[in-house]
Amino acid sequence: MPIAIHEQTFHLYNDTISYIMRVTPGGDLEHLYFGPRLPLNVDPTHLSVGALYGNQVADQFDPTVSLESRLREYPNFGTGDMRAPAYTASVDGSAISTFSFVDATVTTGKPAIPGLPATYVEEAAEADTLSIELTDDVTQCSLTLQYTIYAQRNVVTRHASFTNHGPAPVTLSRALSLCLDLPDQDYVLTTLMGGWARERQVTTRKLQLGTQAIGSQRGHSSAQANPFLALARPNATQQTGEVIGFSFVYSGNFTASVEADAYDHTRVLLGIAPEQFSWPLAPKQAFTTPEAVMAYSPTGYNGMSQTFHSLYNERLVRGAWRMQPRPILLNNWEGTYFDFDEPKLLALAAQAQAIGVELFVLDDGWFGHRDNDRSSLGDWVTNRAKLPAGLPHLVEQITALGLKFGLWFEPEMVSPDSDLYRAHPDWVLGDPNRPRSLGRHQYVLDLSQPAVVDYLFTALDSVLQASPISYVKWDMNRSLTEVFSAAVPASEQGTIAHRFILGVYALYERLRHAHPDILFESCASGGGRFDPGMLYYAPQAWTSDDTDAIARQSIQYGTSYVYPIASMGSHVSAVPNEQLHRTTPLATRAAVAYFGTFGYELDLTKLTAATLATLAEQVAFMKAHRELLQFGRFYRLSEPEDPHPAWLVVDDNADHAIMLDCTQLQQPDATLRFRRLAGLTPTAQYRSDTGEIYSGAELIAAGIRIDERRRGDFSTMLLTLDKIAIQEDEHD
Ligand code: DGJ
Repeated sequence: MPIAIHEQTFHLYNDTISYIMRVTPGGDLEHLYFGPRLPLNVDPTHLSVGALYGNQVADQFDPTVSLESRLREYPNFGTGDMRAPAYTASVDGSAISTFSFVDATVTTGKPAIPGLPATYVEEAAEADTLSIELTDDVTQCSLTLQYTIYAQRNVVTRHASFTNHGPAPVTLSRALSLCLDLPDQDYVLTTLMGGWARERQVTTRKLQLGTQAIGSQRGHSSAQANPFLALARPNATQQTGEVIGFSFVYSGNFTASVEADAYDHTRVLLGIAPEQFSWPLAPKQAFTTPEAVMAYSPTGYNGMSQTFHSLYNERLVRGAWRMQPRPILLNNWEGTYFDFDEPKLLALAAQAQAIGVELFVLDDGWFGHRDNDRSSLGDWVTNRAKLPAGLPHLVEQITALGLKFGLWFEPEMVSPDSDLYRAHPDWVLGDPNRPRSLGRHQYVLDLSQPAVVDYLFTALDSVLQASPISYVKWDMNRSLTEVFSAAVPASEQGTIAHRFILGVYALYERLRHAHPDILFESCASGGGRFDPGMLYYAPQAWTSDDTDAIARQSIQYGTSYVYPIASMGSHVSAVPNEQLHRTTPLATRAAVAYFGTFGYELDLTKLTAATLATLAEQVAFMKAHRELLQFGRFYRLSEPEDPHPAWLVVDDNADHAIMLDCTQLQQPDATLRFRRLAGLTPTAQYRSDTGEIYSGAELIAAGIRIDERRRGDFSTMLLTLDKIAIQEDEHD
């Protein structure tokens, strides 16, 4: 049983990690430790840093300690802990609350969180869950903190639930999912920051005194900041050192903050952003936060990422596509934009089929009277001007070619010029007393209203029922503004941002249930909602609207900090590139796109026979290696500041590996350099695709020699390695 309870000390452990906390004399939960495995008989007093410094206010129950210097599990507001709280629960205008320990129970396995995405187990033996119940006598609220430790993963997951047992309404104006207090400040903070077409750039800074925070107020997790942060020891590298990663299984507004206080302690907070959140709890009502995941790595950033990758691949993604190689697709967006008709699509599809593509995806523009981005969102019926014989007819033609068919929707949005908006202007988010803002000429539907979710389910389901559609790209192209719902009273307006996301999840769940074999790909103007919450419903996400192979190197590099390679939508597009006008070699575009779902996004009918033959070779390469590329163990070989991004995937037995090393701008007389590999068997020998034989030891310790003297700008070295035999070590 990997949760030991001894005299109100709780020790969650597996073979490699321990997470320890205890109940204090006043019933507070004191955090003691998160790190490498400790013995079960460790004396908890050895781990406590609680003290009373200077002019601190003493704990009401222990005058030798201040709440401000204690490490705490789920800190309150208003009784002496001057750092940011994890929650505020108010009654009659008082936000002061003190939850104290009542009981703790351990169960095997991991319960689901109804209505919310979460990691799961398939066998109860995979994990144990500790539920700690606390109560506040004044608000008469109970608080349950739930912690799950996986037996075989360096992961602890958490969430909290509040229930109002009293007669008075309680208001939660903050209900975060995680607090982790650490006893020092010797950390480097890493976040994934960016913007449209430059998502998830690795950003590192030495932790500074004060609060450093990221978050989103856009109604979706955002391209600007991803719901993730990591704290690493300053000497940590991709391969070595201690790193703790924090990831939020949620797709809406979030806050992720790190507070380095005056007492050399660090507080990490992660949860729904409080700014647009206020949740009234009527008597007997409950509120449950989304899940947060903490990953501990003693082996650098790669160890952290590998922990997230295997957890999210194996126990967050669900259904038919879990651990399944993803179809190689052609998406018509960059090839045609809105300008297509049936003959043009059929010509594209025929060419796609000829080079070995498996899935044809029809993107934006197939519905209503949509010829540009100014109309028809919400009217999910065939655009007869473009497809006079109807969508089912097109699907029939394309599937007859031997291709699967995929379709684009943007369910959460409505165009002012649409039948849906004309019929239901009250289904749009907005304050009736104020004008509404347009984004990409569209409004946001109020998915907090069940009637809207019902309408969307019926509309999408009838399209999906009518034809054999095996893939859906679910787009979302504007952030939320005027977050106000005409359907609820003033007192509930603070619930709408969260209820909107719950509506998105409910719609996804119903569609998944009705169409269990469909592969969903989420998208939000590229990678504006690439988060673990989405992966629970849609196993892959469009990584970025920037398809330039050089820009993609840093986007995919950053995305890999948390998200599995199989989840990253990655396509080869035309040159000059649409977003950056840069011309990169076809081989480079393919080499980068191999490390993802792989597909094409260009007009195949404009390519020469020679180029098409090269594309067919690329498709064949991907088919031959996609399990390794998408599900192999992934190692970043370069640090973020390295001008040559490099990474490698290797299978479980280290029998096969594929490495990519990128050159951005060619230097004159570039000197030979070495790239050290990882994850290989040191005692084995490997044959590369160039026929060279290397020992694993030399590739790890010395590295592979890279000669980029005549390669030119934007080139890559893609190397496949196959183990050939166990090497006899002659020198032992
Ligand atoms: C934004 C997406 O990221 C693109 O791939 C494309 O689907 C467009 N929307 C269509 O409007």
